Amino acid sequence: MKAIILAAGKGTRLRPLTYTTAKHLLPVANKPIIFFVIDQIARAGIWDIGLVVSPENIDLIKAAVGDGSRWGVRITYIIQEQPKGLAHAVSVAKSFLGADKFLMFLGDNLIEGGVAPLVEKFERGAAAAMVLLKEVADPRQFGVAILDERGNLKQLIEKPKEPPTNLAVVGVYMFSHKVHDAIAKIKPSFRGELEITDAIQELLSAGEEVQAKVLEGWWLDTGKKDDILEANRVVLDEYATRAIHGEVSEDSKITGRVEVAKTAKVIRSVIRGPAVIGEGAVVEDCFIGPFTAVGPRSVLKNVIIEHSVLVENCILTDVGRVEDSLIGRNAKVTKVADGRDSLRLLIGDDSEVQV
Ligand code: DAU
Repeated sequence: MKAIILAAGKGTRLRPLTYTTAKHLLPVANKPIIFFVIDQIARAGIWDIGLVVSPENIDLIKAAVGDGSRWGVRITYIIQEQPKGLAHAVSVAKSFLGADKFLMFLGDNLIEGGVAPLVEKFERGAAAAMVLLKEVADPRQFGVAILDERGNLKQLIEKPKEPPTNLAVVGVYMFSHKVHDAIAKIKPSFRGELEITDAIQELLSAGEEVQAKVLEGWWLDTGKKDDILEANRVVLDEYATRAIHGEVSEDSKITGRVEVAKTAKVIRSVIRGPAVIGEGAVVEDCFIGPFTAVGPRSVLKNVIIEHSVLVENCILTDVGRVEDSLIGRNAKVTKVADGRDSLRLLIGDDSEVQV
């Protein structure tokens, strides 16, 4: 069994951060999202992975992921010239996939636990596809599934305005080679994309077996700022451990599951976990509250911050209280010391500031 990870696409909803990085490289608990995806695939015993990237992000992704040896897998980079849809991405990966069964993982999706038991079941069985579903409050932004009374998949609809159920299609799929013929038969959707949902519907209409499994655990689709914060919250909540490797001054107080990386420094500060402080970061006279990830080499002085992600090398000084924030690499937030009550901004295109 092979796997493909889909990491092309433009990440427009995460601008301005995605002007300089791929959304799949944004960190959750100080680790790029795509690393969690590769971890899960490797743990399912799949070592031959095709990574679908765009011409714009291939260099960035290659620099971070490399050849996969870190995970004991082999990564083959596959360029999709234009993000013409998930089914289009599969067709671009066709020569890599050959006639093998494969797992397809959207590079911005995270699910609780592993996929190992599902992969094993699919590999042994004769189904043409398997989809994972999850009950969500608002399914309009997803593919939506209708099941029959016995729980078998009846129909899939992509982003319906009036969803018939609240069962969303999760971005983790399994296919046999039969999906390639189904993709050859579908046409672009209303949004101009070749939808994998339509290809699966094509398999169903042709009488092929498509299994559906409703997930019990959490599922995160990290397409927007709040999704990244939520993913950071859930991942820290679940996986953060107490590991103090850096320097912590005696007048600091660290409670709960807090990771302070090797070369980080914590001075006269309170940190309440779950939280992570990255390598080379300096935290001085601060309160760092739960669900905060301070990226490597960031410097925070006299700040109260919680439920936030600082990507890397961020500077925050004397700015009072910061919450629910996603701050990009090398960004600086400081207080003007001239006593005037004004904002001075130098912010990139598509930035958002709430005061
Ligand atoms: O997240 C689950 C949802 O993913 C499903 O419920 C939907 O049925 C499915 O269509 C998909 O919807 P999105 O609109 O959220 O997909 P998005 O365009 O955000 O792309 C998902 C990932 O796939 C993202 O990491 C980028 C990558 N991608 C996307 C496109 C359109 C590609 O690699 N190539 C593409 O052509």
